[in-house]
Amino acid sequence: MSDDDCAAPVPRKIRNDKGGVRFYRPRSSAPPFTAIVHRRGFMFGVAASACTAALGLGSKAQAAGGAAQPPPNATQPDFDFAEIELNARADDLLPEGYERQILIRWGDPLFADAPGFDANDQSPERARRQFGYNNDYTSFIPLPFGSRSSDRGLLVVNHEYPLPHLMFPGLAQDRVAEDITSAQVDVTIASCGHSIVELRRNGARWEVDLASRYNRRITADTPIRISGPAAGHPMMRTQADPTGRLVLGTHDNCNGGITPWGTILICEEGSAEFFAGNVEEHPDRAHMERNHYESSPAGRYGWARFHNRFDFNDSPNEPNRFEWVVEIDPLAPEEPPVKRTALGRFAHEGAHCALAADGRVVVYLGDDWEFEYCYRFVSARRFDPADRAANRDLLDHGILSVARFEADGTVSWLPLIWGEGPLTPANGFADQGTVLLHTRRAADLLGATPMDSPEGYEPSPVTGHVFIALTGNEGRQPDQVDAANPRSANAHGHMLELIPPRVDGKPDHAAERFEWRVFMLCGDPESPTDGATFPEGTSREGWFVEPDNFGFDPAGRMWLCSDGPGIRQHDGLWAMHVSGTKAGLPRLFYSAPAGAECCSPAFTPDGRTLFLSIQHPSAGASSIDTAASRWPDFDADTPPRPAVIAIRRKDGNAVGGA
Ligand code: FEO
Ligand code: CA
Ligand code: CA
Repeated sequence: MSDDDCAAPVPRKIRNDKGGVRFYRPRSSAPPFTAIVHRRGFMFGVAASACTAALGLGSKAQAAGGAAQPPPNATQPDFDFAEIELNARADDLLPEGYERQILIRWGDPLFADAPGFDANDQSPERARRQFGYNNDYTSFIPLPFGSRSSDRGLLVVNHEYPLPHLMFPGLAQDRVAEDITSAQVDVTIASCGHSIVELRRNGARWEVDLASRYNRRITADTPIRISGPAAGHPMMRTQADPTGRLVLGTHDNCNGGITPWGTILICEEGSAEFFAGNVEEHPDRAHMERNHYESSPAGRYGWARFHNRFDFNDSPNEPNRFEWVVEIDPLAPEEPPVKRTALGRFAHEGAHCALAADGRVVVYLGDDWEFEYCYRFVSARRFDPADRAANRDLLDHGILSVARFEADGTVSWLPLIWGEGPLTPANGFADQGTVLLHTRRAADLLGATPMDSPEGYEPSPVTGHVFIALTGNEGRQPDQVDAANPRSANAHGHMLELIPPRVDGKPDHAAERFEWRVFMLCGDPESPTDGATFPEGTSREGWFVEPDNFGFDPAGRMWLCSDGPGIRQHDGLWAMHVSGTKAGLPRLFYSAPAGAECCSPAFTPDGRTLFLSIQHPSAGASSIDTAASRWPDFDADTPPRPAVIAIRRKDGNAVGGA
């Protein structure tokens, strides 16, 4: 199949979230135009998450025992914090009356016998027993499992990608791929993936329990099982794994989600920059190009210089074994994670769950790339709240659909089913595994709506409405504008709100059609060219651009992180209502340290602790020596370190106000 067969243009995303570095082509010089978050919660009381609440099991809904949710126009409690100023300080900043604890940093030990961090004495053996680099997705799972404890729980954290020039003294950014050593490559491989660590609260402070049996590191070379329709497919087989059912590692783990049965979903957001090779010499060049691979002598991190499987000319199928959603059971540290291929292959940003009216599991999945799509998976079987083991392979069977946003304000979900419509052998689809390996091409043929880089994509626990944060798409031309992506050269991003129909008062996330509307267009409200739509009353610090991921607090208020920073020149965390008279009116709560983005706001069930992931501090610096900030240690011998922080009010009440 050639690119000409694709319905959508073949775009190339600007990966400006990779440490502040423009990775592919530079953004266009189009003039700027002109403005909301996400996560957690589930049946076991994981901090009020969309999943939980959508299930009727969130912090408030749970108390209602699965009864109808509050009306979709309900107003959330007012915020009572004084807004701060957004600024690129060396340190981070919170409102008056709040404090934050540096909970765990890159290199901190995860086990009682693990070594402490030493920038000058790094090894893969040490890194495998320490907290990884560039923490992104973060969630809190209360312990005992199934409880709603806000005193003890598991912190589960993704480690997205390395920044070797900020990890190793003496390494320059523009020489990483050429100069990185074999031992350093293996440290970076050991620093990606995922960490699970048990926390206990002692008064106002949290402590890491290094003796917990749940503590775990998953890295970019941990054995991972492959399941679902693409498992064992010829395109998944390699010389090292002729079965196509066992892959070493997971990387580029961006956002994620928690299932109703309490497993973790982590999302492989891309792989192209981890691989090296000549695309023109790949046996399936069209497939590689459609999936945004480019020719590169060593890849971005030099991995292919020392590990042949990351050279896609030597191992043409190895890339096919990445860019999936990976499921981890935090209660079974000895069990390998599982790549669930039924959820499709693309640049997975997140995987947020909800329950359909009939009890089937719905997962919202965005493809974070310019002109890529928004997906939804609906399981074939129903979730069984009484039998955790029965849900074990629920995500292997079901229907993946892709969204087409109609101009009449409805969303059509187009199913990616082999043998139906254009997804036949005549178009190169031999079976369902092939459809999933070629998810994007299948979605092209179905006529899905190419979007402006879908990031956060998650239902509100209060309204059941599904919000999508789109960070932008400067490549969109005037003749490519549509109702759901209404601005060409979209530099500042926007947000959509999807409205599922209600059955017995509850949102039906498996319905064939939803309604949708624009939640906000981002940009400077005072700029006539930006066309931003923040509500009246938005302060000078309240507006934002390039919305990335978000979470909900137990009261159903949204907490949204930007990742740009674009015309705001700095990233932060904004809080806002999602319904009622103050819907979409943001207030700035947190200003990240220089060069960092904050990610994945996650609350304890009582709303009194907000965990926040601080990723790539001092990104943009060419080496450790030129770092804008040595956050959080501020020590001349210690590089800047990504870290997860715990934010609390000094008076102990709920973050943001009750
Ligand atoms: Fe890893 Fe789409 O942000
Ligand atoms: Ca990001
Ligand atoms: Ca993101």
